[in-house]
Amino acid sequence: MGNNGGKKLPHVTTRRLLEMKAQGEKIAMLTAYDYTTARILDRSGIDVILVGDSASNVFSGHDTTLPITIEEMIYHTKAVVRGVQAESSRAMVVIDMPFMSYQLSSEEALRNAGKIMKDNECDAVKMEGGKVIVDTVKRITDVGIPVMGHLGLTPQSIYKFGSYKVRAREEKEAEELLRDAALLEKAGAFAVVLEKIPADLAAEVTRSLSIPTIGIGAGNVCDGQVLVINDMLGLNTEFHPRFVRRYAELYSVVKDAVSLYVDDVKKGTFPSEDESY
Ligand code: KIV
Repeated sequence: MGNNGGKKLPHVTTRRLLEMKAQGEKIAMLTAYDYTTARILDRSGIDVILVGDSASNVFSGHDTTLPITIEEMIYHTKAVVRGVQAESSRAMVVIDMPFMSYQLSSEEALRNAGKIMKDNECDAVKMEGGKVIVDTVKRITDVGIPVMGHLGLTPQSIYKFGSYKVRAREEKEAEELLRDAALLEKAGAFAVVLEKIPADLAAEVTRSLSIPTIGIGAGNVCDGQVLVINDMLGLNTEFHPRFVRRYAELYSVVKDAVSLYVDDVKKGTFPSEDESY
């Protein structure tokens, strides 16, 4: 799928993702937080755009995903949805429910998921966790709001984990993760993100579910893959985990361009006569 010449295309739905899994067609997902990036992603044939709470890190500069608020997530989502609609309208847009917007009670979670869906034209919400959130997932999916799960390294629990190391290497945690994945599917989740877990375990989870798994640092047997857009575009110099493949080195591209601009302004060679009125 490439540039479609501005034509509207069939929107990717939860049903389409299930078909993709059944047909062995991989699902490509990336994060986006703004209009311009969402336009490029939709035009490039991405299946799912995640308005990740990683915006807290890569957009706002926090150390963790915990500080971002519902209002900030809604702001980013509105911009992303406008970007998709300005192109082919094909990509599904999923929004992360931020820390403490769904953990207090199922009722509070439902209210917040409802607010998110009403305030945006997004397709689904994503929530981190297994057994402890299944009742909430059921409550939310029962009213018709699609939920994507997220297991393994769940960044909203970073203070409990104490590090960003690979999760579920031990048998007990691996068994819990398999159980959690099954519980999420039973509760009505339409897909599950598996973050930073051994590839063999991700493969086992993928085979055991009829809903798609989307991996990040979870090997290539998953039904799809997701990366944070800033990481795969090489927009930073310091973050080099082995699961990130850099498809560009935009940090140096942007830095070099800005340096040239600064030089031109200082020398008085920008703007030229042709660039003036
Ligand atoms: O917030 C995010 O970007 C995510 C992805 C890493 C899956 O949850």
